Amino acid sequence: MTALAHPNIALIKYWGDRDSNLHIPLNGSISMNLGGLFTRAQVSLNPNPQRDELRLNGVTANPDDYRRVSAFLDHIRELSGRKVYFTINSHNNFPTSAGIASSASAFAALALAATKVCDLDLTEPELTRLARMGSGSACRSIPAGYVEWIAGYNHATSFARSIAPPEHWDLTDCIALISQEPKSTSSTQGHALASSSPLQAARLQTAEQRLQTCRQAILDRDFNALAQVVELDSNLMHSVMITSTPPLLYWQPPTLAVMHAIQNWRLDGFQVCYTIDAGPNVHVLCPTQQATEIATRLRNIPGVIQVLTARPGGATRIIENE
Ligand code: PMV
Repeated sequence: MTALAHPNIALIKYWGDRDSNLHIPLNGSISMNLGGLFTRAQVSLNPNPQRDELRLNGVTANPDDYRRVSAFLDHIRELSGRKVYFTINSHNNFPTSAGIASSASAFAALALAATKVCDLDLTEPELTRLARMGSGSACRSIPAGYVEWIAGYNHATSFARSIAPPEHWDLTDCIALISQEPKSTSSTQGHALASSSPLQAARLQTAEQRLQTCRQAILDRDFNALAQVVELDSNLMHSVMITSTPPLLYWQPPTLAVMHAIQNWRLDGFQVCYTIDAGPNVHVLCPTQQATEIATRLRNIPGVIQVLTARPGGATRIIENE
């Protein structure tokens, strides 16, 4: 059984957990699936009845990745009521070292393929709850297009749903890759530090307002409203990161160069905005008609290694039934 899932870029960010085991977030979030970029997870039952087998991009997984994935598969064993083990081959078609969150697409694809192998037929909300337990943001890669993760307060109430299908609004994410180094602090470690920042409370207090503005901007296809709230939300998350103990400063000098360039391009009349996850790379959003020009400009900024582009992607789906 092979499933395909896209990574997603958060337009309103998830940063901080109410429950770090189940990944119940402290605030809701909104994202866009990144079409063209994907994880392909091929899953079958392992005839060896003691152990899962996991290969990531053709290489046997390291013990940390193995433990994380096996613990996730325990949830599927529990759901199926069977003590089965899996053979998994998971491939990304984008550079894993590029700092694009690959755990979201990886756990989304794995959740779908492994439940199908067990003949479990989960509904979409159920599948989002399951994927969430692998990596919080993975729940947003299950539904299609523009997706909202309802924060909730426990396992049953925390799930993701589509706000609009991919064809609703043709935006492009031009991803400016700035570093290929693995990040020093993973997002899992980062969530635990969020509450140590005195700014996290203010960020959380105003999150509902930003969610509403973002949801409405997507429904209205209002780029200027979207741009404003997306940059504000990213800047708020990074303010929390920079002021936590210990502080997390993910930006590199070229990150800032891209942020300045975008402000200038807006003055030139381009519809464009940035958002940054837990790393130095910059996701630059624009209407697709402007994407070729924006990508070319990004490539000319010193320190930008490569620019990938992605339009809104579909839902996690089965691509081979064998
Ligand atoms: O799902 P995680 O634990 O990898 O956290 C994702 C955190 C951010 O990418 C920084 C924000 C988000 O909402 O995707």
